[in-house]
Amino acid sequence: MLQGKSILLGVTGGIAAYKAAALCSKLKQEGAEVHVIMTASATQFISELTFQTLSRQPVYTDTFDERDPSVVSHIDLADHADLVLVAPATANVIAKMAHGLADDMLTTTLLATTAPVMVAPAMNVHMYAHPAVVHNMDILRSRGVRFIEPEEGLLACGYTGKGRLAEPEHIVEYVKRWFAEGGGESALRPAGAASQGRERPGLLQGKRVLITAGGTIERIDPVRYITNDSSGKMGFAVAEAARDMGACVTVIAGQTQSVPPEGVELIRVETALDMRDAVIARYVDADIVVKAAAVADYRPVHRAAHKLKKTGERLVIELERNPDILQELGEKKKKNQLLIGFAAETEQLEQYALDKLARKNLDYIVANDVSRTDAGFGSERNEVHIYSKNGLVERIPLTAKSEVARRLLQIAAQAISAGGEPPSLPDEVHSLEP
Ligand code: PMT
Repeated sequence: MLQGKSILLGVTGGIAAYKAAALCSKLKQEGAEVHVIMTASATQFISELTFQTLSRQPVYTDTFDERDPSVVSHIDLADHADLVLVAPATANVIAKMAHGLADDMLTTTLLATTAPVMVAPAMNVHMYAHPAVVHNMDILRSRGVRFIEPEEGLLACGYTGKGRLAEPEHIVEYVKRWFAEGGGESALRPAGAASQGRERPGLLQGKRVLITAGGTIERIDPVRYITNDSSGKMGFAVAEAARDMGACVTVIAGQTQSVPPEGVELIRVETALDMRDAVIARYVDADIVVKAAAVADYRPVHRAAHKLKKTGERLVIELERNPDILQELGEKKKKNQLLIGFAAETEQLEQYALDKLARKNLDYIVANDVSRTDAGFGSERNEVHIYSKNGLVERIPLTAKSEVARRLLQIAAQAISAGGEPPSLPDEVHSLEP
């Protein structure tokens, strides 16, 4: 699977560095050419000789150790990689990457490369959850860096929780799958670096994908409004995945504090009516529409021009129905368009989702339970059931929203290539390993 691929493996200084040896070996066994850069801290845990022996290539640790006068080592390594994989990635290297520091061979090469970058973090459970680390990872995600989530279990520091480097075979599977999906050279290149003439078509190459994200806000007066808990993360994850698969992506975003992905067209809107206009105007050109936004069903009948003053003990605000954007799209749907809605439910997930699927003439509906605190609104993760008119297509257990998005779009791409027909009712429920 990895024949002919050049993978630059960055090994940083955590106890999980020993697992990088197995990773290096497995990548080689899959046919990849592996070049290794170690940080000084990594060499405290495992020797250069181990990686040199496994990769059959010289190992780099020092920016100034120039062995071949005809090239500058870090530029040469940066230029020739099809993928840069940092595993294990410590909190320190993630911070340096997020903020553009280049004080050693690895971080210098990371700044110099236009190759896609994947990061497999490994650290203490509290470090992984620290707002600074979370923020740094968000920054990198917004630049197209892909994360291979750490696994849960007993950590070397004695804690049990999330932070253990993903098993080498899982990382290799992830890398293989990503190359197989055509992520290859174009998918994860930082925005602006995609014009190297080395593009490869992805699963959604040439497709136009229209996505909504975030919550609408419906104003009562100039300073007060009705909204919901949507953070926009799910919609942005779909946008990022679609971009990575080669699609031309437009996102219509309501209220969100999340960082939108780069390399997509972003249109900000406020109300359901604004969202409707923005979506309808672009609908005719869209091959796939994914409506992940949480749209307010009602808006105040009167929007006060000035801040409302306290009048009595009670204030009644009269609401009127907003248009159902998705329903309108369903009515106007052309044969070659694929329409995907989300159903945010707190009870009777399947029944309500299937009702929306039929009523709004959708190809797929993604049902999620928004009463949970570890999924749905605001969370980095989600657990969903994807239905077509034939019934359950796939159950995706609790996993990163990026994974949910990726799988959803794979299903969409498959349906598009099958002429828009959703797969028939499976014998058994498929589920994606988190
Ligand atoms: O944004 P996050 O914090 O990441 O959270 C993700 C999410 C929970 C918002 C997302 O996964 C989700 O479920 N989005 C749909 C929320 C919603 O409005 O669901 P609904 O069941 O009320 O609506 C069904 C579908 O109709 C949705 O696709 C919605 O976009 C659409 N709709 C609803 C009302 C309306 N007036 N117009 C619409 O187009």
